[in-house]
Amino acid sequence: MVDSLKKPVFEEMRPGIKSPAKETILTPRFYTTDFDEMAKMDISANEDELRAILEEFRVDYNRHHFVRDAEFEQSWDHIDGETRKLFVEFLERSCTAEFSGFLLYKELARKLKGKNPVLAECFNLMSRDEARHAGFLNKALSDFNLQLDLGFLTQSRSYTFFKPKFIFYATYLSEKIGYWRYITIYRHLEAHPEDRVYPIFRFFENWCQDENRHGDFFDAVMRAQPQMLNDWKAKLWSRFFLLSVFATMYLNDIQRADFYRSIGLDAREYDIHVIEKTNETAGRVFPIVLDVNNPEFYKRLDVCVQNNVKLTDIVNSTSPKFLQFFQKLPYYLSNGWQFLRLYWMKPIDAPSLQNAVL
Ligand SMILES: [Fe+2]
Ligand SMILES: [Fe+2]
Repeated sequence: MVDSLKKPVFEEMRPGIKSPAKETILTPRFYTTDFDEMAKMDISANEDELRAILEEFRVDYNRHHFVRDAEFEQSWDHIDGETRKLFVEFLERSCTAEFSGFLLYKELARKLKGKNPVLAECFNLMSRDEARHAGFLNKALSDFNLQLDLGFLTQSRSYTFFKPKFIFYATYLSEKIGYWRYITIYRHLEAHPEDRVYPIFRFFENWCQDENRHGDFFDAVMRAQPQMLNDWKAKLWSRFFLLSVFATMYLNDIQRADFYRSIGLDAREYDIHVIEKTNETAGRVFPIVLDVNNPEFYKRLDVCVQNNVKLTDIVNSTSPKFLQFFQKLPYYLSNGWQFLRLYWMKPIDAPSLQNAVL
């Protein structure tokens, strides 16, 4: 009895193998794209920079970084109850996101091989990094007596199709936001070692440099395709992807504030910092960035947070399903409205094109 109170019970597919979390609009997504169009892409306008990035990938700075040391070798049963649940969720979400990067990059490397050798090798080396990241996180899950069946995940998840251009916007942002997320946690725990309750965070400093390099690769690819960055459509799409990535992270993290609290962080402050930094970084390549300092930005996101709390209450209520639909409708409409208003907020012109290869 005491034990069941202490250890949250996760649904298991097989003993020790955690059932993957249910897919929702907020869970990490798996992508696929038009591989032929990608293979035909002409990168000559920025080939020198791409070759320089490829050289960096080949050096493989983190070859010896992801090695579990003695600090992992202890019982983690003292992380229990709700905190344990939040830790497992954090590790699972991170592992799934890293693994989704691995699958996409690996597939791109395979399909581009022989057709676009520079891009193919870059994708292959990035998939090497993501495989390490996902593997390291999955191993961390085993400290909590669970693992993810990544083979099952590959087959069972639905894949979102994006044209290459949209893959670049989305992956560029997810790499850069990943960099800022990892480095912000690392720096906080460096200043507050008493909050570093589990050793994985110690690895985030070098780890985030992988994500930074991956982001730089996509930056260079977009500069090789100036039409992706310099027309009115590019401005609209940049707004859409910036907003989607920021809103998804914010809604996810605020509802997991207890996890961030367990490592001494305020989820809202953490997200505001990460959004501000990622937005600033994106301004080096995107033609516009969002006006995230406008108080309306977080006011509207907070309405969505409240709506999501209501939506969860409805789903967990005993009302019949058909009734739940009508109960949920106003909150969905409100979320849609907030997103539209956020999308139409006046953006800020970025001086990014100054350095573009045009
Ligand atoms: Fe990664
Ligand atoms: Fe990455």
